[in-house]
Amino acid sequence: MTLLRVDGLPVEVREGASLLDAVRVAGTELPTLCHDDRLRPAGSCRTCLVRADGRITAACVTPAAPGTNVTTAQQDLCDLRRDAIELIVSALPPHALADGSRSELAETCRRLGITPRTAAPKTSGHRDDSHPYIELDQDLCIACGRCVRMCDDVQGTFALTLTGRGADTVVAPGTGGPWAQSDCVACGGCVDTCPTGAITHPGPGRGITTAQPRQEQVRTTCGYCGVGCALDVVVDENQVSAVLPALDGPVNQGHACVKGRFSHGYLTSEERLAHPLVRKNGSLEPVGWEEALARVADGLRGAVETGGPDAVAAISSARATNEENYLVQKFLRTVVGTNNVDNCSRLCHAPSAAGLSAAFGRAGGTDSFDDVGKADCLLVVGANPVEAHPVVGARLLQQALRGASLIVADPRKVGLAHQADIHLRPRPGTNVALFNGLAHVLVAEGMTDPDFLRDRAAGLDELVEMLAQYPPARTAELTGIPAE
Ligand code: SF4
Ligand code: SF4
Ligand code: FES
Repeated sequence: MTLLRVDGLPVEVREGASLLDAVRVAGTELPTLCHDDRLRPAGSCRTCLVRADGRITAACVTPAAPGTNVTTAQQDLCDLRRDAIELIVSALPPHALADGSRSELAETCRRLGITPRTAAPKTSGHRDDSHPYIELDQDLCIACGRCVRMCDDVQGTFALTLTGRGADTVVAPGTGGPWAQSDCVACGGCVDTCPTGAITHPGPGRGITTAQPRQEQVRTTCGYCGVGCALDVVVDENQVSAVLPALDGPVNQGHACVKGRFSHGYLTSEERLAHPLVRKNGSLEPVGWEEALARVADGLRGAVETGGPDAVAAISSARATNEENYLVQKFLRTVVGTNNVDNCSRLCHAPSAAGLSAAFGRAGGTDSFDDVGKADCLLVVGANPVEAHPVVGARLLQQALRGASLIVADPRKVGLAHQADIHLRPRPGTNVALFNGLAHVLVAEGMTDPDFLRDRAAGLDELVEMLAQYPPARTAELTGIPAE
């Protein structure tokens, strides 16, 4: 831990923290228009100036050194920060600070009593509304680069760029054409970080970001895939107005993908089944819940009376929550009295569950996603997380961008293969031969950790004996991957 003083208060921060972290620990709020905790700091907007041991510096990019004396409240510092914001605002059209604007910039200006200058700056009127989930108003862009860093460093898509020179610099899709035709995968990261509303989501959620204080929100776990992203659902007049990635979500860490972030239109779809239907005389008719539940209970009771508890079975859904799946099995076992309960994931997950159980003794992953952040080398075999589990794909890419080697083994050129140091293309169905070939080399060339294996692995001698059959030449023959 690092000990320093902020406005006279002793403050302790973790190693590697910035002066901004220290100032926040001391309970002081600074404007931070180019900063987002999810991104590497840029230090470009000068709105977070503090004095550190007598020197004026941007808090977000200055490391918290032990013993530093930081001050934030002297008048000249307040004036400098205010000047920086006023300068930024002076280049923006009045709608940047319009009443009701929920942007971080508008909130900051309201807090500091900054109003737009009367002389309206030149506007280009350039908008890009081509994308279904994202709108761009270049006149509101302050070139802070948060969106670009979010797209590059967190999402790993590199879809955005800053274009133009000097005061005319604005963000644009990197491909130059309309946003909808860019490489954007609609993760919503840029929407969530943009401090001015230049990039927004159209509709009732416009301008709502994780940075904004909100009245009503409900924490949930995304049900679209098994990654387990924590999401905050913002509710306005009993309607979902936005879904935001939770900053403290252990898996997603303030990120999401297009599904969790934007795909909630089904909630208000005309086609949504909003009332129970019961078939009467051959056609489905809307009925009340009481009647529908009574009908289900009668059906289940009748089946049990006729055929016993095992006449009933249930299949629950991987789209439902853990708790809901738990309730289904509990109901089947304790109320109906049968073990006839299954889950749809057995269909797709059965081969991996069998393999994992045989190799590791349980049918689930043995690592947490956080382990990715500690890896020097990532080997991804037969998976396409960039498309199937985008938030995990993004975390793998982040680690590769931090310098980890990325090896992808897949016959197809899956998303991660584009960033991989090595893309191995085994013949379909030869992944196991590839693993055995790699393990053969590890053992033959003494690259294993014998103490680790002795403590943790069962059946090691049998494995080593079997691996003798997988020298590089034979592995190459089986997999089609060159031995070298
Ligand atoms: S939505 Fe995601 S992928 Fe698309 S430009 Fe923004 S950060 Fe990049
Ligand atoms: S669009 Fe928003 S986040 Fe991107 S550079 Fe402009 S102001 Fe910053
Ligand atoms: S937030 Fe520190 S310079 Fe922009």
